[in-house]
Amino acid sequence: MDWGLKNRISQIIKPHNNRALMLAVDHGYFLGPTEKLENPKKVIAPLLKYCDSLMVTRGVQRTCVPATTDTPMVLRVSGGSSIIGEDLSQEEITVSIQDAIRLNASALAMSIFVGSKYEHQTIVNLGKLVSKAEKYGIPVLAVTAVGKELGKDSRYLSLACRIAAEQGAHIVKTYYCENFEKVVQSCPVPIIVAGGKKIPERDALQLTYNSIKSGAVGVDMGRNIWQSEHPIAMIKAVRSIVHGNANVDQAYNLYKKIVNEDPKKKNKSNKPQNKPNQNKSNKPQNKPNQTKK
Ligand code: R5P
Repeated sequence: MDWGLKNRISQIIKPHNNRALMLAVDHGYFLGPTEKLENPKKVIAPLLKYCDSLMVTRGVQRTCVPATTDTPMVLRVSGGSSIIGEDLSQEEITVSIQDAIRLNASALAMSIFVGSKYEHQTIVNLGKLVSKAEKYGIPVLAVTAVGKELGKDSRYLSLACRIAAEQGAHIVKTYYCENFEKVVQSCPVPIIVAGGKKIPERDALQLTYNSIKSGAVGVDMGRNIWQSEHPIAMIKAVRSIVHGNANVDQAYNLYKKIVNEDPKKKNKSNKPQNKPNQNKSNKPQNKPNQTKK
């Protein structure tokens, strides 16, 4: 493996412990201004120092990430469909290798849609991207997409991950499932696990822990961090598992401790609360969920 390729991979998967914490903020490429990521600049700024790398589109990287950062960028280079369009799997490569180099990408990320209408197109795109990126020593992270019509069990995910690796992906991002060890064992390159939809914080920490115990090098987590009420506490707790070998209880206790120390929360609890008998007019108030029909 060429020095540049090795060096870039080691920016993403830390060589001292073979672990990775990637923060995913690329969702807008097909979801638009998704909940709690409406203003990417505000979301990214306080979290950037706690992740090993940021998964991002070129538009958000240029407009919302300070060029002075030393956090490596994993640049999403596929797209072409939207959540309201006909078929999410109809993706092409949308960023040239020259632009990726200008953006100093540490890796390129794209999705493959195994089992979908456009699987051929996306798998061929992956092979071509690997060939181009390797010329410049840039690794490729293949995302195995899942959708309503695609499976999410170890049989399907093993198939999708293995196909990605066979096409030359240097890292594969996939979803956690039962018997995840099988997925890891049959994939010859490192696997990183996506967080998925927002779930309770403890469950997301459990997912992180289980993924690593099953052999993943780490997580590429988005919604379960920035859709949390306490994104900094959450990323620190996830980090304690990925890099601190914390178990789920330890990580969740850390999360709660940081939340309780949060001055904003203290201010809130110090504010006088409106009590029902403080209603001077004594008129019954309409609550938001009591809309008249
Ligand atoms: C999804 O389109 C992106 O590839 C995300 O980077 C990926 O799903 C990880 O984000 P989350 O943890 O929110 O699932």
